[in-house]
Amino acid sequence: MGVTSSLFEPARQALHGHLFSRSIDESSIRYRYEHCLRVGAIGRTVALAEGLDADLLELACLLHDIGKFDATVAVDHGRAGARIAKSILDGLGLGEAEQREVLQGIAMHTDGKWNYDQDSPDHPGFDLFTAQPSVLSRSVGDCDNVDRYSLLRIHGTMNWVKFSEKTTPEALSWIDEYLAHLDRERTYVCATETAQELWMSALDDHEQYFTRLAQQLKSGLTA
Ligand SMILES: [Fe+2]
Ligand SMILES: [Fe+2]
Repeated sequence: MGVTSSLFEPARQALHGHLFSRSIDESSIRYRYEHCLRVGAIGRTVALAEGLDADLLELACLLHDIGKFDATVAVDHGRAGARIAKSILDGLGLGEAEQREVLQGIAMHTDGKWNYDQDSPDHPGFDLFTAQPSVLSRSVGDCDNVDRYSLLRIHGTMNWVKFSEKTTPEALSWIDEYLAHLDRERTYVCATETAQELWMSALDDHEQYFTRLAQQLKSGLTA
């Protein structure tokens, strides 16, 4: 783990306490907690390369999924997380502008929207943010995306689609669809060049793995 700020440890403890108090299976919570730590580290790397506030982006990334299990509609977990994180930030002595950047980044990391849709069951009856997000706020979702395409997620994705139960033609067909999905992901535009490079590199890793896997599987098929 790299150098972290004095904000990190109290935020990490608050994140741990909140996630592990949810009524969800422990392996899901553990994955989410470790994902948050990894995204925090990616945030620090991106911020240092881009001249952004590294303590602040690391903090926002660390807390980005604190509301993962607190939204009625999954896509609203960013907005739910911003509301939960507010009370944590209040105790860390951050200025109002810094708080807003962190919270807006958490709120919008799921889908780029920083406020709830009016018809969301989780809509609180008021808007949380009125200003356009900063580069730092937009970077939270970028760093999350980089870890969503970590090498670890290859295993998770293959388990999720029950890859080992597929016949070889079914597996090849699924890989084709997945490679097309990766191509679409390449159109995502990050807020910084550093995040864009990390994003493309993560997609490259997945593409290379599945392209080679398809080649190997095809070699075992009769013509
Ligand atoms: Fe998330
Ligand atoms: Fe996440």
